[in-house]
Amino acid sequence: MRKLPGVINAQQFSIEVICEIFSLARFMRKTAPTGLLAGKILCSIFYEPSTRTRISFEIAMTQLGGAVISTENAREFSSAAKGEKLEHTMRVISGYNPDVIILRYDAQGGAEIARKYSKVPIINAGDGDGQHPTQGLLDLFTIGEYYPSNEELVIALVGDLRCGRTVRSLCYLLPKCYRKIRIYLVSPSQLRMKDDIKNYLSGRRVYFEETEDFEGVLRKVNIVYLTRVQVERHEKNELLKRALEKVAPNFRMTWERAEMMQKDAIIMHPLPINDEVDLEVDKNHRAVWFRQSDNGLPLRKALLVMTINGY
Ligand code: CP
Repeated sequence: MRKLPGVINAQQFSIEVICEIFSLARFMRKTAPTGLLAGKILCSIFYEPSTRTRISFEIAMTQLGGAVISTENAREFSSAAKGEKLEHTMRVISGYNPDVIILRYDAQGGAEIARKYSKVPIINAGDGDGQHPTQGLLDLFTIGEYYPSNEELVIALVGDLRCGRTVRSLCYLLPKCYRKIRIYLVSPSQLRMKDDIKNYLSGRRVYFEETEDFEGVLRKVNIVYLTRVQVERHEKNELLKRALEKVAPNFRMTWERAEMMQKDAIIMHPLPINDEVDLEVDKNHRAVWFRQSDNGLPLRKALLVMTINGY
């Protein structure tokens, strides 16, 4: 039986493994099996707030018959508050033998450190401005429900591309499934995608274009994927915050802008939404963010089963 060694980043997945995850996620959605993880323990350690990732993982584990031990604010309620380093926390918690640790950390590289020091598999639930691979997978899963992988995909990633970890994971995953793909990177100049991702896309000969012309790309794309400005990562930069306030309206999704898109195009967002999307856009038939968040449950069930039991 093959097992996932955990989930650290999006690069780790081959197309074959992605297909197996998606196939199991579809099965989980259709049949909702119980008892598959009876007697198993998930430990979720979150150094940053979360609604979707933590709760969907914990519900997934519970519905599959397993138990959950959780700290939702590890900075305050674990010994991190007394200065303990992640390396020691991971050695200690994994020494108690949970079957998997779900970790959200507040700095890039946290999941990799955890992997090195833990005796049990780690699932990266977001590490600073690094990656959010399980969100990337559920985004790709959702995209696949609208656009088959043999078609050309044209997608605009919009917003804080510098610190938005979901778009970073998605950039690693998209070229694995879509051979013909064009990516527009739409952001204010201060929030451009970092070079590591651009180098990866160039290395895979993926066409991408950086632009600030949000309205200009709306008609060209199948998908607009919006992200909020990661204010928690820019808090100390007052100059940047003031500059962004001025340009924010240029990147906001309004009803009128949604209607500029093709009729069968979709608008995605990992959530939470701030001011970058008007609330009324929820009602536009193109908006699929609640489909994305719903897909988080079967997708994370699949990841838990494949990591704990194997497949
Ligand atoms: N999309 C996402 O990661 O949401 P949470 O921060 O609420 O988990």
